[in-house]
Amino acid sequence: MDLERQAIESVLPRLLPADGQWPSRLHRAMRHAVLGGGKRIRPILARLANRAAGGDPESITEAACGLELIHTYSLVHDDLPALDDDVLRRGRPTVHVAFDEPTAILVGDALLTEGLLILARYPAGSEWGPARAEAVALVAEAIGSRGMVGGQMEDLEATGQVAGDGVSGDPGVRLDLIHRHKTGCLLRASVELGALLAGLGVEERGRFVGFGQSLGLAFQVADDVLDATATTAELGKSPGKDAEADKLTWVTLYGLEAARRKLHELETEMIELATDIEGPDGALAAVARKVVRRRG
Ligand code: IPE
Ligand code: IPE
Ligand code: MG
Ligand code: MG
Ligand code: MG
Repeated sequence: MDLERQAIESVLPRLLPADGQWPSRLHRAMRHAVLGGGKRIRPILARLANRAAGGDPESITEAACGLELIHTYSLVHDDLPALDDDVLRRGRPTVHVAFDEPTAILVGDALLTEGLLILARYPAGSEWGPARAEAVALVAEAIGSRGMVGGQMEDLEATGQVAGDGVSGDPGVRLDLIHRHKTGCLLRASVELGALLAGLGVEERGRFVGFGQSLGLAFQVADDVLDATATTAELGKSPGKDAEADKLTWVTLYGLEAARRKLHELETEMIELATDIEGPDGALAAVARKVVRRRG
C-alpha cells in the first residue's frame, strides 16, 4: 500500500498548475487542497483493480490521479460553511479557512474540471481514445446529480439543512441511498475505471463493480464510526461533527455496535468478492481489510 501511495504522490504534483502560474491564488489554493495529505484510496483502488484485471498500472497512474482531484473537489465543497462547515481537513485548515470562501468554491470548480480533463487526456496515445471516452463517461455519471452530488443533496435534506422533497419515509432506506451515492459511487467508479482501462467490457467488469459497491458502503460506514470514536490527530479532521449537525449516519441511526457489526459483515462480503477476482489474499482484499479497520 505504501508503494502504491508513493506511485500516486510522485505524479500528482505535476498534474496541477504551478503555484506561481496565473491565477496564482487559485492555484496555490488548489495545491493546498490536494497536496500534503489524504489516503489516496481512490487512485490506489484504480491501479490495484487494473493490475487484477491484467492491465499495467503504470500506464494509468495519471488517469487515477484524475479521480483524486475530483474527490478533493468534493471535500473542499463538503467542508464549506453552507454544507458541513468544517475548519480542518487532512490535518490542515480547510480551503475556505486558509484562503476564503469564494476561493474555496472556485477551487472545487477547477479541481472537478481538471480531474475530468486528465481523464480525457490520459493514458495518452490514439490507441487509448475509445477507452478514454468511456472512462470520462463512467466517472462523470458516478459523480453527477444521480451519483455523488445526488447523495450530498440527500445528506443535506436529511439534516433539514435544505428543504427537500424527501425520498422516503424510511430512514434506513434513506441512509443507504445517501451512503451508496455520496461516497459509494466514486469508489465503485474508481475500481471500475481500473478494470475498464485494462480492457474489460461492461459484463467482465461486473465482479469489480460488485466489490467496489461493497467497499464504497463500507468506507462510509467506517467514516461514520470514526466520526464518533476517533481523535482529531487520527482523523486530520474534527470528530463528533455528525451528532452535532444531526447527520443521518450508521451510528446516529443504528448505534455504534450495529455499525461495527455491519462493517464486519461487509468485510466478509468484500473478501469473498475480492477472492473471486484475484484469488485468496490479494491486494484488493488487503485494501478491504484496511478500510474496515482504519483509524483515520
Ligand atoms: C473522506 O474521504 C470523505 C468520504 C467520502 C468519507 P477520505 O477518507 O478518502 O479522505 P482523504 O482523501 O483520505 O482525506
Ligand atoms: C462526504 O461525506 C462525502 C463527500 C465529500 C462526497 P462526509 O461529510 O461524511 O465526509 P467527511 O466526514 O466530512 O470527510
Ligand atoms: Mg458531508
Ligand atoms: Mg463532511
Ligand atoms: Mg464523515
